[in-house]
Amino acid sequence: MQNFKAYVLIFLLIPFSMFAEDGSQLWLRFPNVKNGISADKIISKGNNPTIEIAKNELTNFWQGQTVELRTDKALKNQKDGYTIKSSSDKITISSSKEIGLLYGVYHILRLQQTKSNINNLNITEKPSYDVRILNHWDNLDGTIERGYAGYSLWKWEDLPNKISPRYKEYARANASIGINSVVLNNVNASPNILRKDYLDKVKVLADIFRPYGIKVYLSVNFASPKVLSGLENSDPLNKNVQKWWKDKASEIYQTIPDFGGFLVKANSEGQPGPQDYGRTHADGANMMADALKPYGGNIMWRAFVYSPSKEDRAKQAYLEFVPLDGKFRDNVIVQIKNGPIDFQPREAFNPLFGALKKTPEMVEFQITQEYLGFSNHLAFLAPLFKEVLDSDTYSDGKGSTIAKLTDGTLRKNKFTAISAVANIGEDKNWTGHHFAQANWYAFGRLAWNHSLSSEQIADEWIKMTFTDNQDFVKPVKDIMLTSRESVVDYMMPLGLHHIFASGHHYGPEPWGDYKGGRPDWSPVYYHQANEKGIGFDRTKSGSNAVSQYFPPLDELYGNIKTTPENLILWFHHVPWDYKMKDGKMLWEELAYKYDSGVKNVREYQKTWDKMQTYVDSERFAHVQSRLKIQTKDAVWWKDACLLYFQQFSKQPIPYDIERPV
Ligand code: GCU
Repeated sequence: MQNFKAYVLIFLLIPFSMFAEDGSQLWLRFPNVKNGISADKIISKGNNPTIEIAKNELTNFWQGQTVELRTDKALKNQKDGYTIKSSSDKITISSSKEIGLLYGVYHILRLQQTKSNINNLNITEKPSYDVRILNHWDNLDGTIERGYAGYSLWKWEDLPNKISPRYKEYARANASIGINSVVLNNVNASPNILRKDYLDKVKVLADIFRPYGIKVYLSVNFASPKVLSGLENSDPLNKNVQKWWKDKASEIYQTIPDFGGFLVKANSEGQPGPQDYGRTHADGANMMADALKPYGGNIMWRAFVYSPSKEDRAKQAYLEFVPLDGKFRDNVIVQIKNGPIDFQPREAFNPLFGALKKTPEMVEFQITQEYLGFSNHLAFLAPLFKEVLDSDTYSDGKGSTIAKLTDGTLRKNKFTAISAVANIGEDKNWTGHHFAQANWYAFGRLAWNHSLSSEQIADEWIKMTFTDNQDFVKPVKDIMLTSRESVVDYMMPLGLHHIFASGHHYGPEPWGDYKGGRPDWSPVYYHQANEKGIGFDRTKSGSNAVSQYFPPLDELYGNIKTTPENLILWFHHVPWDYKMKDGKMLWEELAYKYDSGVKNVREYQKTWDKMQTYVDSERFAHVQSRLKIQTKDAVWWKDACLLYFQQFSKQPIPYDIERPV
């Protein structure tokens, strides 16, 4: 009888599990699988592996007219861009490169999937950046630093012999949004990644990714020559060390001829670097650049540097890098986090942008939500990415946005690049939260075209991932577009930052005072709350970080009256009774912000519950349960922060906001 019951149960479960919507298809849910055009309706010369993929996508999914794929060398200045032109009976996709044709195919499939017009197309696309790169912070033991979607996709133990089907799926997903490079391993890099046995494993991944137009990069440990080969040191001016890197480069390129290059975290958070030998970042970067140069490889040298000192952490990267401007080889690019602290829900932009006049710069974003509620909170990050890219640095006069400084418009670079720390792991849905897939998608789309709006990206993504029914699209888009600001409100409104519990960076710990430890890792150092007020004084009377911004921003941020209120506590120590623009005093404003963050998330819950009829049960329930966690956490943040700050403000919590529980 017991057995019989078990059989019945299994029987009942099978049909559901077969059709389970686990999110593994990401946004690539083309209608009527295996129902595309017949092969004779594809006109194409050549049979390169990339073209083969393009043709397969069309025969599987394209339901329109004949498609011609045409390589056209005359389009060379469009890089891996493409044109799409349609007549009544044919669509022609042209590009100077095969990968451009594949991108063009994904473009028309996206149009079809989002039910956009596919008649009279006359499209020209050129990517905003040459290198559109994901940084995986994956360790060789399978864990992921700041990863919230399970273990690493890369099965180092199984490679090079056993190949997971997900490698190809991953490459396809990236190609569909134009991502063309990946760093496979953590910036806190194990030297072992450069061992021969690991390079053989990396080669397998590179071979799988290549037809999808993806190049592999590696994070390297500066001390590798000493650790791996027992050299006396890893000093960049030591001839033996230089030779070691040259030999290593030769070995790598013999294995992976189109290897992209190295990403380097040096002299940062305990990592080794050139300063260990009294050398500069430029000395270190140039040594590696010289080794990769003959093969066309690049060095992405990170500017995320700070050390426990009296100097405001927000100023340190600028202080270290500006004196080195112009001293780097032309295949080095300085990779700069969007803000000067560390991927906070909102930061002022990093003042290093534009300050290097003769050295190429690139942005590093973080897609993984280290400081935005991990994969429990719904936070659509396109608005954050856009806010940064559209920030005007004034470095070369008005209009010197970070986008224009890094995309080659204002500074003619040998190559341009944009990066983001991935949120991808082995979870079935890849990113932990179903809506976190949208952040991978958004990064790719913006790296391809930074002028797209957040609204447009959300719209596309929702239609591709869920449904194009407006009764779903509209409310869900509203959630997405307001979600990042809601997180800011319930965690760190008005420019507050880094008041997370230490180590895991999940919950609040504004009381954190790591006495005897590092003050620059203590929340109390960042919020500076006392009986007079709250906020970090970065004006002339404080750390004077404002002086690192170009005029007129130095003045603007230096003056409490002209500082945007969403950054007021980033730049000023503000009295509790300071009158804000809406007439409320600071304490009240803070309380209302926390409260509005909580209220918004409660609304998201209600809205999502109404969406049940439009979503499969699995994804519906999953998102619903995560929103519950998010709401609980939002209340936790609000209560913890308000009750803690109240001991200094000595003001009542406004009567009309939710009571602390
Ligand atoms: C943050 C993060 C670390 C990471 C570092 C980096 O500090 O918490 O895990 O290593 O950034 O970007 O190098």
